Amino acid sequence: MGPGKLVCLMILAFGLLGFLFIISVVLALIPLYIAKHSGTPLTGSASNSLTDCQTLTAKFNTTCSSGPVTNIKATTGTNVTCLGLTGTSNSTVKIRVQSNGLPLFCPNIPMLDTFSEQNIDFEVNFNPAVSVNSPIFKPPTQSALDSILCNISSEMAPPSSSGYFLYSTPASGGTLAGISVDGVSIFNVNSANNQDPFYPSTAGPESVDQCLAHCNPTGAVYHYHIASGCALNPPSGNITSCSANTSCSSSIAAYSISTFTNYKQLTVIGIAKDGHIIYGPYNSDGTKVTKGFDICNGMFYDKIGNYGYFATQTFPYITGCFGPGNYPTITPSCTTNPASAYTRSYYARLFTTG
Ligand SMILES: *[C@@H]1O[C@H](CO)[C@@H](O)[C@H](O)[C@H]1NC(C)=O
Ligand SMILES: *[C@@H]1O[C@H](CO)[C@@H](O)[C@H](O)[C@H]1NC(C)=O
Ligand SMILES: *[C@@H]1O[C@H](CO)[C@@H](O)[C@H](O)[C@H]1NC(C)=O
Ligand SMILES: *[C@@H]1O[C@H](CO)[C@@H](O)[C@H](O)[C@H]1NC(C)=O
Ligand SMILES: *[C@@H]1O[C@H](CO)[C@@H](O)[C@H](O)[C@H]1NC(C)=O
Ligand SMILES: *[C@@H]1O[C@H](CO)[C@@H](O)[C@H](O)[C@H]1NC(C)=O
Repeated sequence: MGPGKLVCLMILAFGLLGFLFIISVVLALIPLYIAKHSGTPLTGSASNSLTDCQTLTAKFNTTCSSGPVTNIKATTGTNVTCLGLTGTSNSTVKIRVQSNGLPLFCPNIPMLDTFSEQNIDFEVNFNPAVSVNSPIFKPPTQSALDSILCNISSEMAPPSSSGYFLYSTPASGGTLAGISVDGVSIFNVNSANNQDPFYPSTAGPESVDQCLAHCNPTGAVYHYHIASGCALNPPSGNITSCSANTSCSSSIAAYSISTFTNYKQLTVIGIAKDGHIIYGPYNSDGTKVTKGFDICNGMFYDKIGNYGYFATQTFPYITGCFGPGNYPTITPSCTTNPASAYTRSYYARLFTTG
């Protein structure tokens, strides 16, 4: 074979290799293209029909059985109901949440604290559709991030698109972030000094009972800042304080997650004041949620585009703001236990444009 022929063969071989490479790249890109441009919605929607709402309310420990109540305190317990608007022009399903705020177990309240029944009563659009491409919070700087996440007042009012309506002003004022399935208040994550209550960067941690809740000094409202399995599986009899329980006192954040050992699936633990569902620490595939969420602790968790909050082992534990939020590389300065990074979930990436 002459040198001319060899060169020819080599050109042919490289050409073929290049061709095969281009083909394989194209083949690999096709499913991604299809995912982005056909079956999967780009903007994302939300499961917010009356039936979807009723599926959610069934998870709540609704104890009332008849008649709308003007003051839930006059009855006992919790009433979480869906209101389907029947008009053809507006099918927004609303959820009305009424709770006396009392737990299904005996809390461990320090002797000098007071503890009182509440009249929590609000209505909000059920699970409104939101988009990863239009975050409600996108702080660009450390101070902007801190003014949202290190701010007990930042969940005072949900975004107007939530159609939030308050029937009765709660004693907790603006610090109520949502209601747990057991009817107990979920407060904004911050302590009164705008710090992580459990892993503050300044001052000392707050104390809670073994169900991870305590009362606030002003309104005597029993509340969670971090998720507790007691909401799903209330203990009977007297419980202790967290400090008296070695696993709780050694790491309250790890203990919080450990109370969900029997719930390693997508598990509703409450509803946020913005109408989004709050889930426990596990995803639908049984994995613990350690990434995929934004600064608010919210995640796009399915191919429909549903957005919900997840219980995490890192600050803000349940919800830090009414999202969606952004995914900055900075973390809040009021905690020594921040998320290691904010990352888009698989679905959030699918819906991201631009
Ligand atoms: C409500 O709480 C009680 C007492 O723990 C429990 O038996 C019941 O199953 C709960 N209901 C719902 C819907 O979770
Ligand atoms: C619960 O609230 C809904 C909506 O206001 C109402 O229709 C229902 O009758 C209430 N049930 C109880 C027991 O209060
Ligand atoms: C439908 O109802 C929602 C919730 O009340 C409201 O925000 C929205 O403006 C209404 N839309 C129309 C077209 O009436
Ligand atoms: C805390 O959040 C509220 C509500 O968004 C806001 O009005 C206030 O300015 C914030 N405070 C700080 C110190 O950023
Ligand atoms: C529970 O605590 C109360 C108040 O301290 C006490 O009177 C009661 O005996 C305790 N019950 C049990 C079963 O320990
Ligand atoms: C600590 O709490 C866990 C979960 O509630 C419980 O199983 C355990 O017995 C408690 N330990 C002590 C020493 O109270």
